Amino acid sequence: MAASDQPDARPIGVFDSGIGGLTVVSALRRLLPNESIYYLGDTARLPYGGKSPATVQRYSLEIAALLLEQNAKTIVVACNTASALALPLLRETIPVAVTGMIAPGAQAATAATRNGHIGVIGTRATIKSGAYERALREQNAEVRVTARACPLLVPLIEEGWLESEITDKILMQYLQPLLDDGVDTLVLGCTHYPLLRPAISRLLGRAITLVDAAENCAAELRHLLEREGMNAPPEQMGQLQVALTDPPDSFLQIANEALQLEVGEIQLRQL
Ligand code: DGL
Repeated sequence: MAASDQPDARPIGVFDSGIGGLTVVSALRRLLPNESIYYLGDTARLPYGGKSPATVQRYSLEIAALLLEQNAKTIVVACNTASALALPLLRETIPVAVTGMIAPGAQAATAATRNGHIGVIGTRATIKSGAYERALREQNAEVRVTARACPLLVPLIEEGWLESEITDKILMQYLQPLLDDGVDTLVLGCTHYPLLRPAISRLLGRAITLVDAAENCAAELRHLLEREGMNAPPEQMGQLQVALTDPPDSFLQIANEALQLEVGEIQLRQL
């Protein structure tokens, strides 16, 4: 793609298995306020975190086709599971640049660690794929990685139990072995987890650096838009359109309040 001097007003297409990817939208809105975003949450088929690679790949290709119909100039896979399982296939198949969650998170984690030992938490499918280990070792072959699937966290977050005794206990059950193992940096490798960031930082204290893959994904996208000359016109006020494949439940309200996004009318789309 040749860099052009003309601003590019087309939207950024963003997708996730559901609402959790709004944490990435929130990071994008903060960093790129002029960009319009078309977000597709596949609420009819979530969760992706326990599904097979073939299924997540098929879903991801279907959603990417829908985003291209919406005239997306680039696509952000705001779902760690889809990034872990479908990113190479998406990049081979679709004609616009695709940004995922894994490499930006891995870069930030290798830059942050002091003792070279990084923890990763995510869904079962993300952890099983080994995608974070590969990306971290690409950054630094010496790095030690302790990865752990935390399947109970997504339901707790969707229930809105962001600050609760039960959530703290479950978090510590998952995180204690990583602490005992000596990690000094923890990648929040699931788009829901930034909503638990205050609880996780409170529990782990300052000795552990938390890496929010959402913020780093937004930073990578900013580089891409600059490099390819695809920035929105500077006078444009970015719009956010949220589309879901099934009507929203209470989690949309929870995410909206936590992230303070202006989510207007929700479109319903079928795939
Ligand atoms: N969005 C998924 C992720 O980031 C979590 C929810 C799901 O399992 O679909 O991995």
